[in-house]
Amino acid sequence: MEELFFPLEPGAVICDATLGGGGHTARFLERSGTCRVVGIDVDSQMLERARKRLGADPRVEFVCGWFDEVLEERRGFDRILIDLGISMIHMKSPDRGFSLREEGPLDMRLNATGQDFSAKEFILQSSEQELADVIFRYGEERYSRRIAAAIVEARHGGIGTTADLAEVVRRAVPPAYRRGRVHPATKTFQALRILVNDELQRLERVIPRAAEALNPRGRLGIITFHSLEDRIVKHRFRDLARDTSQDASRQEYRQRDSSGSLNLPMVTKEERFRVITKKPIAPSEEERAANPASRSAKLRVLEREFPGENQGSES
Ligand SMILES: C[S@@+](CC[C@H](N)C(=O)[O-])C[C@H]1O[C@@H](n2cnc3c(N)ncnc32)[C@H](O)[C@@H]1O
Repeated sequence: MEELFFPLEPGAVICDATLGGGGHTARFLERSGTCRVVGIDVDSQMLERARKRLGADPRVEFVCGWFDEVLEERRGFDRILIDLGISMIHMKSPDRGFSLREEGPLDMRLNATGQDFSAKEFILQSSEQELADVIFRYGEERYSRRIAAAIVEARHGGIGTTADLAEVVRRAVPPAYRRGRVHPATKTFQALRILVNDELQRLERVIPRAAEALNPRGRLGIITFHSLEDRIVKHRFRDLARDTSQDASRQEYRQRDSSGSLNLPMVTKEERFRVITKKPIAPSEEERAANPASRSAKLRVLEREFPGENQGSES
């Protein structure tokens, strides 16, 4: 995956929009002595961890916030990297509520100090239909109706923890499904996390903003971990790479995000992009061995063209 982001020009400005434990930023700093990195994470605990690891390095600026909001304000990046989802540190911290194998509160908020809506509110207060819809739409879970019905029945007695919820889901699905390689509640947990953190809408919003925040010949790379995310990246990159000067549909897209609430700037003739990765890039054997969680990762990369470059050619 690395060859698409390196080499860097001297003095390159990089945005690591999902700083996490700081692994990618550490790699940028290692590969370029003169780069500067703006590291964003909405989780203040993760930001603190990264600050402890990298904070002595004056080349790094730490920003706490949602990436789509921060990138609305910032410009002038040669590389922007978005590594979606949660980190292994989240998975290993039962108190955050992401782990279905350990007892923890039903939380799942990335921004635990700035947002009230958690998985618990949704589990306890939604109708059976709302539960089934979310589990189906964001988890692509084929047993969503059974699971929703089981949650509604069980919550009167109390579903207080992640372990309670995982067990309710396990009991709701057919026995053959319980014996699979992955835990039967995996998709339900994914759906709740996506809902609580508004993950897909944020991804829709960040793509045009990040593209606009690139310098000419700058590159935006997005690493996804499931098909819902990858589909969004694929289609939005394709929209951005289309010849745009007279393209009404793209202009409309830039003005209207998926929630219909944003007023993104109109596209200009000078803004041209091309997709570098015709097919998504999967991690190498070596990368997979070093980090088994990267198994399902896919990287797509978009490049901003230099003004005047490739005018009139196919993107
Ligand atoms: C997969 S981890 C990144 C791991 C990182 N690349 C590393 O090398 O350690 C994703 C991180 O991004 C953060 N995050 C997820 N969605 C975000 C968003 N919309 N805005 C800001 N931060 C986000 C999470 O809190 C998490 O720490």
